[in-house]
Amino acid sequence: MTRIVGLSGSLRKGSYNTALLLAAQELHPQILQIASIADIPLYDADLESSGMPEPVESLKRLIGGADGLLLSSPEYNNSMPGVLKNAVDWLSRPSGDIRNVFRDKPVAVIGASPGGFVTISAQAAWLPVFRALGARFWTGGRLMVSGAHKVFGERGQLADAEIRERLAAFLGGFIEFCTD
Ligand code: FNR
Repeated sequence: MTRIVGLSGSLRKGSYNTALLLAAQELHPQILQIASIADIPLYDADLESSGMPEPVESLKRLIGGADGLLLSSPEYNNSMPGVLKNAVDWLSRPSGDIRNVFRDKPVAVIGASPGGFVTISAQAAWLPVFRALGARFWTGGRLMVSGAHKVFGERGQLADAEIRERLAAFLGGFIEFCTD
């Protein structure tokens, strides 16, 4: 069975990006496992020298053993959010472990925002990061959910049938890519 780790780039309870990831998990509960970046500290080389934080080590192990990584990334100021970049930076340490965690790892990015024409810049901003890490960035599909406040209900449930269909098509393609 293919195993994909999902990370949301937002820490807030009512996050649309977490809601999008949960909707993806609802479609593929056996395949998609959602992990959290909430316990990952700010990157500090002194902290790294005194021993890798446990939440970083366990997330490295989880991603290293998975067939793929799916990010649900907000867009901040036309780029990726610092909290998620911080997590990926930790996951790339020490650099000798990059091959176990990211090398040839299928990676895809989705995103949601209340605005229009959104998360395009954030998704593009992730490209050079995963190229640097030697991952296999999936470009076979795109999913950018604009007007997110109208797409998700009060409890964060995906209330838009067309977006659900697009999400299902995106996941189908990415899962196939991860299984290759
Ligand atoms: C934003 N937001 C935003 N949205 C967007 O589409 N393009 C952008 O460049 C930005 N920039 C931006 C900067 C900062 C500092 C914040 C806090 C927010 C709005 C953002 O998409 C919105 O807050 C989302 O709801 C964040 O995602 P979650 O938390 O709902 O997953």
